[in-house]
Amino acid sequence: MRFARFFCSRFSPFKMAKYNLVFVLGPPGSGKGTQCSKIVENFGYVHLSAGDLLRAERNNPGSQYGEMIEDYIKNGLIVPVEITCKLLERAMKDSGKMSFLIDGFPRNEDNLQGWNKQCGEKVNLHFVLFFDCSLETCTERILARGAAGSGRVDDNKESLKKRFDTYMNSTMPIISHYESLGLVRKLDASRSPDEIFKDVKELFSKIN
Ligand code: C5P
Ligand code: MG
Repeated sequence: MRFARFFCSRFSPFKMAKYNLVFVLGPPGSGKGTQCSKIVENFGYVHLSAGDLLRAERNNPGSQYGEMIEDYIKNGLIVPVEITCKLLERAMKDSGKMSFLIDGFPRNEDNLQGWNKQCGEKVNLHFVLFFDCSLETCTERILARGAAGSGRVDDNKESLKKRFDTYMNSTMPIISHYESLGLVRKLDASRSPDEIFKDVKELFSKIN
């Protein structure tokens, strides 16, 4: 099987079909998860949230990475890409589908390099959906989510400050990188979910 894969990718005129992909980025609380659910309903993509996959792995009693992931999440730091990429790849394979929204990834240079090395060749990246939102609005939303019982260890003021620092210092440069490749589709995410989705719908309708 390994040989067949290698042979097909190198020599066969019948190249392996590539996964269709959209990355979804934006600060914590910009509504990535909310919009992704709507995209799934309307366009049949599979939604993979890097944060959700890491939280599931943390909660898996058999995982050797549980404690480490908990520590990173509490401190708003980005888990090493080897772990996240493995979880994403496994979820993509297990789904049996070909079209994915990957939300909250790539979040820093390590994520970007690791992904390009491990998966870059296997995907067709349509664009990077960027939900632009002021940190004030995002803070209000997240603290409300925490107060309403999100159960997340990082939906509090202290963790949030660290998550925003990581976003500004590590994720913004990744968005700029994709911008320079002409791949960013930026939307004003301070609006209501339905208003934002009108624009999102237009973008996805154009994907063939
Ligand atoms: O995207 P979300 O807000 O769910 O991410 C929660 C946390 O998960 C992040 O603050 C970070 O600690 C971790 N994470 C990560 N690498 C990613 C995405 C999330 O380490 N690519
Ligand atoms: Mg999320």
